Amino acid sequence: MGIAQSDHSTVVRNHVVRCISCGEPSAALAADFRCVHCGDLIEVDFPKWSAGLAPDPVALKSVWRERRTSNQALDLSGVWRFREALPELDDWASAITLQEGNTPLYDLPRCAHSAGVQRLQAKHQGMNPTGSFKDTGMTVAISFARQNKFQWVACASTGNTSASMAAYAARGRMRSLVVIPDGKIAWGKLSQSLDYGALTCQLRTDFDGCVRVLNEIIRRYPIYLLNSVNPYRLEGQKTSAIELLEQLDWQVPDHVVVPGGNLGNNSALGKAFLEMKRLGVVDAVPKISVIQAEGANPLYRTVHEKHGQELVPVEADTLATAIRIGNPASWKKSLRVLEATGGCVEQVTEAEIAVAKAEIGADGVGCEPASAVTLAGLKKLVKSGFVRPTESVVLILTGHVLKDPEYTIKFHRGDLSVPRMADEDFRTLTAKQRRAPMVLDASADAVLRALEAEDKQDG
Ligand code: F0G
Repeated sequence: MGIAQSDHSTVVRNHVVRCISCGEPSAALAADFRCVHCGDLIEVDFPKWSAGLAPDPVALKSVWRERRTSNQALDLSGVWRFREALPELDDWASAITLQEGNTPLYDLPRCAHSAGVQRLQAKHQGMNPTGSFKDTGMTVAISFARQNKFQWVACASTGNTSASMAAYAARGRMRSLVVIPDGKIAWGKLSQSLDYGALTCQLRTDFDGCVRVLNEIIRRYPIYLLNSVNPYRLEGQKTSAIELLEQLDWQVPDHVVVPGGNLGNNSALGKAFLEMKRLGVVDAVPKISVIQAEGANPLYRTVHEKHGQELVPVEADTLATAIRIGNPASWKKSLRVLEATGGCVEQVTEAEIAVAKAEIGADGVGCEPASAVTLAGLKKLVKSGFVRPTESVVLILTGHVLKDPEYTIKFHRGDLSVPRMADEDFRTLTAKQRRAPMVLDASADAVLRALEAEDKQDG
């Protein structure tokens, strides 16, 4: 089979991995990254930071900033630039990187107005090499996969993890297995997986079904799992929070608003903010709030129906296919972050998502539908008084607008059907936002007539 090594043992350097429930440290990692004692999730910890050997926060800020002017391969990555906060590789030069991270922080003036806040910013994680935030985690986890001598990596995905994994596997000369739902996956994402050369399997099930199948595969074949239960993924994803703080000159925003699917990303961001406080890099943390689509709202229901005591899995359905997830793996980590930062969880309708996505587009930024839940959710958080108009808010936009062009085109043509709203009502609601393409005769007159009509309308 040509498999060099099949165990997941990790050379522990600056970090340990331990269970989030029983706290047991693990020397070797199970193939499914679950605690071998109690089956819960595991996370990376840095024991030296508690043993009086924590890095100096002033020195950290200085070296991180300095690296922005360096052309060393590791420093060009907006993830590895923050390597003091990451698990250490045996050989830093072996990191598999596509110069991920370094994503822009944009002002969204029109969205601020519509949400009812004075200032609104968005960290656009869709500006990563494969168009989503997954790259920041993938570079770290796949580097550990190669360090542990795996030849095959795999993930179940709604499309972005698979696109990212396929790209990084190709860069690292590794083989990748993508397990995705048949249908309900955006074309941009599927095409990436093919282009980067992954073995792409579309299963006749949803994301949660794909996870079940993949869990069996990893028990039967030596293959490294790259879903977000892999704690090294979350370590990489942490860096976007550090980079955000750096972009804000270490001024902590009042609120950070994140979409929630499998619930790894908000857990990673929360871990980063809490760690930066622990290290004295900042003296506060933002409230991290998670927004879910109404049709894929297990965390929302877990909090509101079970007070966070047990997960309420749902049969997920939303046009924001990236977050079409009913049984999220990282729900406990996510709840811990909500609690530790004082954030909340909100849900939004499909119509609210579509309107918010067009508003983000109208600010010249754009994003995929799953990212737009953040703006839709923020509007509700302002209305409920949880976010005050004078507070600073950062939305995390997780995916690029070109990931799912079909959604955008249907919206603007008036062909998007949203659940629980009559098509006619939805078209009326979005009439002012929609910009359908016009098919005209090939004459200047025809185009000028359209231009003049538009001008008259605007005036
Ligand atoms: N936004 C986008 C664009 C995503 O692709 C995902 C997750 C999320 C938000 C939710 O993040 O799972 O960390 O809570 N996509 C995964 C995938 C599940 O397979 O690409 P999360």
